[in-house]
Amino acid sequence: MKEKLEAIRVKAQQELASITEQAQLENFRVAVLGKKGELTSILKAMGSLSAEERPVMGQLANEVRAFIEEKIQEKSNQLKEFELKREIESTPLFDISVPANLNCGSYHPITLVQRQCEAIFKSMGFTVEDYGEIVTDYECFESLNIPKDHPARDMQDTYYLENGQLLKTQTSAAQNAIYKKYKDALVNDGVPIKAIFPGRCFRNEATDACHENTFFQMEGVMVDRDISISNLIYFMKTMLSEVFRKDIKVRLRPGFFPFVEPGFELDISCLICGGEGCPSCKHSGWLELCPCGMIHPQVLKEGGIDPEKYTGFAFGLGLTRLAMMKYGIKDIRDLNSGSLKSLSQFTDDE
Ligand code: DAH
Repeated sequence: MKEKLEAIRVKAQQELASITEQAQLENFRVAVLGKKGELTSILKAMGSLSAEERPVMGQLANEVRAFIEEKIQEKSNQLKEFELKREIESTPLFDISVPANLNCGSYHPITLVQRQCEAIFKSMGFTVEDYGEIVTDYECFESLNIPKDHPARDMQDTYYLENGQLLKTQTSAAQNAIYKKYKDALVNDGVPIKAIFPGRCFRNEATDACHENTFFQMEGVMVDRDISISNLIYFMKTMLSEVFRKDIKVRLRPGFFPFVEPGFELDISCLICGGEGCPSCKHSGWLELCPCGMIHPQVLKEGGIDPEKYTGFAFGLGLTRLAMMKYGIKDIRDLNSGSLKSLSQFTDDE
């Protein structure tokens, strides 16, 4: 019986080595350890052994059984691993190292609106300029016809650096540099200046649902011979109708800004009531959206452009305000909150 048991152990090892499928393994288990299996039938024959032999053989049989069970378990694990590997290799497009797409990123609503405006203006021949957030007093104020102690500075208090530079309060701060950058092409080659410059602006504000110390604007300028207010109205109306995907009526009201003459507040027909009058537009049918005007001759001169020969318009679109209107965001503070719950729900509707 001892030889038989040893033979079963050796044979089992050999057979296990050649098994390649779980089903085969199960057949093997039944053939050896099952009710009618080889080992089981030997155990059944124990009864015919002598009293001395029985415990010795019993122990050996248990050892063989435990040995085979362990080997079956090992083989089973090996086969499972093999099968998983085979499955992964036969599915080339499935990459298990890619993180689950549960938290797919989204653009900030202001980025969405900014990109949309950029695309529209680009399609109308405007260049998109980048500009710093730290500027000089000259860029932010003096070049824009706002000398030191001018009362217009009161509305634009900001954060000053020790070296006298400041965080820009308005994207208009880039105007002077843009005129200087493109004036030669304008004068020598007759290429009109058409540029927009979106950017972050800062003001020392007490915050509430409508005011923030950090917000976004998008400045635009166009300078050429014979530019008039009708050009301004045309570009603004076209851009806004594209952004809101419907025909937008605009109207101009007088507004004062030292760097434009004349200066305007541009209103659009109320998006909620279409101009009939409702609580959102304080029953006026109009929403104030974009200050603008014809560039002041002094500002052109400061940028190296002869105001006797050239004229232009400028506008300062409140991108933050535009995003709030477009997406119905009621509290400006949500935009800087970093709360993904609020900010990740907007999508590009292109
Ligand atoms: N920079 C002005 C502000 O932040 C807005 C503005 C008004 C810009 C008139 C313009 C403009 O270009 O023509 O209050």
